[in-house]
Amino acid sequence: MPPDRPPTSTCIDRRHFWYHVAPADVAAAVGGYVTLDHASGPLLGQVTGLTLGEHGQLAPDVRVEGRLLGDAVPPFHGVETRVAAPAEVADWLASIRPGRAQLPVGEMSMAPGVPLELDAGAFRRHTFLCGQSGSGKTYALGTILERLLLETRLRVVVLDPNSDFVRLGSVRDDVDIELASRYAEATDDLAVRSVGDAGEKRLHVRFTTFDAAERGATLRLDPIADLEEYAALIELAESVSASPYETPQELADALRASAEPAVRALGLRLTNLGLERWTLWSMSDSGSLDELVAPGGPRAVVVDLGSLPTPAERALAAEATLAALWRRREARDPTLIVIDEAHNVCPGAADGPLTALATEHAVRIAGEGRKFGLTLLVSTQRPQKIHENVISQCDNLILMRMNSRADLAVVGSVFSLVPEQLLAGATDFGLGQSLVAGGLVSHPTLARIGPRWSHEGGSDPPSDWALPR
Ligand SMILES: Nc1ncnc2c1ncn2[C@@H]1O[C@H](COP(=O)(O)OP(=O)(O)OP(=O)(O)O)[C@@H](O)[C@H]1O
Ligand SMILES: [Mg+2]
Repeated sequence: MPPDRPPTSTCIDRRHFWYHVAPADVAAAVGGYVTLDHASGPLLGQVTGLTLGEHGQLAPDVRVEGRLLGDAVPPFHGVETRVAAPAEVADWLASIRPGRAQLPVGEMSMAPGVPLELDAGAFRRHTFLCGQSGSGKTYALGTILERLLLETRLRVVVLDPNSDFVRLGSVRDDVDIELASRYAEATDDLAVRSVGDAGEKRLHVRFTTFDAAERGATLRLDPIADLEEYAALIELAESVSASPYETPQELADALRASAEPAVRALGLRLTNLGLERWTLWSMSDSGSLDELVAPGGPRAVVVDLGSLPTPAERALAAEATLAALWRRREARDPTLIVIDEAHNVCPGAADGPLTALATEHAVRIAGEGRKFGLTLLVSTQRPQKIHENVISQCDNLILMRMNSRADLAVVGSVFSLVPEQLLAGATDFGLGQSLVAGGLVSHPTLARIGPRWSHEGGSDPPSDWALPR
């Protein structure tokens, strides 16, 4: 039975309100919307907390707390409050919509039928996407990327560890024809680079564009511990840009045949580390990662790290991409750097010199990239797995299902403006459900992300083995 009269709200600080109802009459959920029928006109509020208790009443009741959306209002008392209709939420959102592109990436969970629109301008700041395995992070990244490609001119570079975005330019059959053709046009300049691909689609990195630190890390050389070899490397690198050697194999052979002990040692090192067998080196062909991310390169680049056979090659390609982006920072060419499974690229504790260097670049971009137009969108399963100086610089949050309360507490400590009970709800999220906060949205918003327009690349293994025989 609904109560005889709607509950009435009180506000004393111009921003927040509360009201009390009997447990059976709690109609609004945390994250949901209520309308406060104020004498000056309806006010929209979002419920941020429900507390059960004896609040000076005879029977147990629930204290419903919320935040007023929109401008501050003078304190009030006794304002009738009811659950808001989705149309009221949609109207309010339309009234505050900024002039920038809005990216429709899903549907608001608490206002069914109302699209979740992300403010594209918020990608000027770093974004953290977090959720446990299978919660829908990669799918959500794809959805966001599609909308960014269609609705904006922002450059995008994707580090794709599982070949999930290799088909980002290929539209699904069930997509509306008009949208499909606009999308095809928007992705015309999308460059997907995989190591196994032939010709200009081959993913490769050019050693001669590396700086001394990158070269040293690739060969696992330390400038102090390996004095002779490091010096030989630097000397050799100066001449290698005009190298007569077509392949790393030829170079290694030549080095090993040198009369100079330090150079010979370098050759052996190349061989022992297996570097000459790596397929990702640039030969005489153009289109290295360094060139692709330079100003004037393709509008969007997918670096298919998943196509690389060894972790060391993946680490090198990720590092080389970040290094190249950082080197060209003075061009101030706004670029979003998307890193899925970022714990492999910029972990809290690096497992080798290349990953340590990649982490250094990521931390630098997180700290200083914004003023050069370089922003990050990093995705991971657990916040602690990423370097803390990357996460701490993120202003935008997309949180998906997360079972661990300890992990949620870490997220909460970085995004302290998100109400605690909204965060806590992430333990119950279904597939694709998310909490979006920061500059992407006007207020922390619950939503379901999707649908995708393009094909997902990699896929989960089949699950029909569990069906009854
Ligand atoms: N919003 C959605 N709508 C429909 N299907 C989805 C949605 N989100 C995810 N899926 C599907 O659920 C599966 C898992 O999603 P996804 O690969 O994005 O998870 P993930 O969080 O990236 O997991 P992991 O951390 O293991 O990489 C995929 O098969 C994907 O197609
Ligand atoms: Mg994933």
